[in-house]
Amino acid sequence: MGKKMNFDRNERLLLAACVAGVTLTIGIFGYAQDCGAKSGPDAHAKYQVKPAPVWTKDGELVLPVDWRRWVFMGAPITPNGLNDGHANFAEIHNTYVQREAFDWYRKTGQWPEGTIMLKEMQHVLPGDGPGGSRTEPSGNGYFPGVPNGVDCSVKDSVRFPKSKNWGFFNFGHHAAPYAATAKEAPLNKCAGCHIANAPEDMVFVNFYKPVLTPLPAPVQNPLPAKGE
Ligand code: HEC
Repeated sequence: MGKKMNFDRNERLLLAACVAGVTLTIGIFGYAQDCGAKSGPDAHAKYQVKPAPVWTKDGELVLPVDWRRWVFMGAPITPNGLNDGHANFAEIHNTYVQREAFDWYRKTGQWPEGTIMLKEMQHVLPGDGPGGSRTEPSGNGYFPGVPNGVDCSVKDSVRFPKSKNWGFFNFGHHAAPYAATAKEAPLNKCAGCHIANAPEDMVFVNFYKPVLTPLPAPVQNPLPAKGE
């Protein structure tokens, strides 16, 4: 009986040694893979959201697919009519982010690795009103016309440590079709202004906070409107 117990103990020791060995091997393999990921054009951070950014062999960003189904966070407008006819981006700036990244930010207040901010420019319809505005049945203002270009920023701390973990890409500032891939824009073209001015983690999140904030519960018994 004593002998059998010893045998069991040895067996257990052997099993423990095996488990430790396998764990170590997996650990080393994983580490080696991580290290491997830190050099060469295929290097990228471990993405925490889908759809993840896709890269070409040369490190160009592939144009995301059907971003118009992502979360639409806001649409700042800087029309030519209010910028002496020379706005940098004269259109409505429709800003989208992957749904998973949006949910992650709501939970943690951080943008996860692999976040893609996508700004699709959209012309305002021309008009004769002040600042190039026009009149529609709803009133005087700016109204959406033809989409006119795509800009992206991508969070990847392995690829873009020099520009505060975000890379910037322009897929064309013109009507669709847009470029299939884009290479990282130089610092002075894009990232520099975001580094100097963005209030939080390279994103002008102040403009998206109203939509990033979950709705409060609906009021159960609203007061009757005046005159009812
Ligand atoms: C002079 C400053 C400036 C430059 C240069 C600039 N941006 Fe921005 N960018 C902004 C501001 C301000 C916003 C938010 C308000 C808006 O859209 O008008 C913004 C918004 C964005 C957004 C939406 C997410 C966010 O951060 O708010 C993306 C994506 C973006 N820019 C990419 C680019 C790319 C790509 C370039 C270069 C081709 C570029 N930007 C150049 C100032 C700049």
